[in-house]
Amino acid sequence: MTGKVALITGGTSGIGKATAQAFVRSGAKVVICGRNAERGQEVVTELKAMPGDALFVKADVSKAVEVEALVATTVSTYGRLDYAANIAGIGAYATTVECTEKLWDLIMRVNVKSLWLSMKYEIPHILKQGGAIVNMSSITGLVGLVGQPAYAASKHAIIGLTKTAALEYAKSGIRINAICPGSILTPMQDPVIQGDPEIEAQIGARHPIGRMGTAEEVAAAIHWLCSDAASFVTGAAMTVDGGYVAQ
Ligand SMILES: NC(=O)c1ccc[n+]([C@@H]2O[C@H](COP(=O)([O-])OP(=O)(O)OC[C@H]3O[C@@H](n4cnc5c(N)ncnc54)[C@H](O)[C@@H]3O)[C@@H](O)[C@H]2O)c1
Repeated sequence: MTGKVALITGGTSGIGKATAQAFVRSGAKVVICGRNAERGQEVVTELKAMPGDALFVKADVSKAVEVEALVATTVSTYGRLDYAANIAGIGAYATTVECTEKLWDLIMRVNVKSLWLSMKYEIPHILKQGGAIVNMSSITGLVGLVGQPAYAASKHAIIGLTKTAALEYAKSGIRINAICPGSILTPMQDPVIQGDPEIEAQIGARHPIGRMGTAEEVAAAIHWLCSDAASFVTGAAMTVDGGYVAQ
């Protein structure tokens, strides 16, 4: 991917950070975004040490004006955009009855609207020379999850968005896929696991492989989906879940 440019939303943490590392390792210039500038600069310093080139842009991906500026800064800095991994997202723990309107709207804004906005501003630049987009769904985009209706609805919506965009640009040199990880050890899981190895083992046991996944295992799949090795793959919702949805 030498000479190519990748934009990774949510690249300051967890799966996004591991994805940024995978792209830098293969020679791409990487732009990451997030809301915490200090944290973003720390990650960029790590990425530049790999060696590679990376840039942090402060942006809330749920706001159109900030996503537009993020993509514009990426292209004005590095001259092009080849790949986008739209990974930023948040969880929500409240049953169908307990979920509030405020929580519902927040999840739809941060998980779904952000992804549409990201593609809206990324696609016109990727069209210039072709490339690929990977959108972050979840196993919860394929099956239900007790206690997380808003999250499940948002991750199902992402697959619909991905399939539609994939069809719209299939003949124009852009492949667009969704990735559906099982439970992955990242900061998002901290409130659930609370540092307790027994809880981690219980969550891991729900996956046929018998453990939780790592951010690097998901990053490897995202990187492959963007690479030329996946040249006939578009409109897919690819599981990286230790067999979870095969049960
Ligand atoms: N960890 C899991 O088990 C798991 C499983 C399936 C899918 N996912 C999805 O993977 C993605 C990454 O999660 P993670 O596990 O790496 O957790 P994480 O909390 O480490 O990362 C989430 C990232 O999203 C960013 N983010 C959140 N809201 C944002 C906003 N409004 N604007 C810009 N950035 C924002 C955060 O800054 C952070 O970088 C999420 O979309 C999540 O739903 C996670």
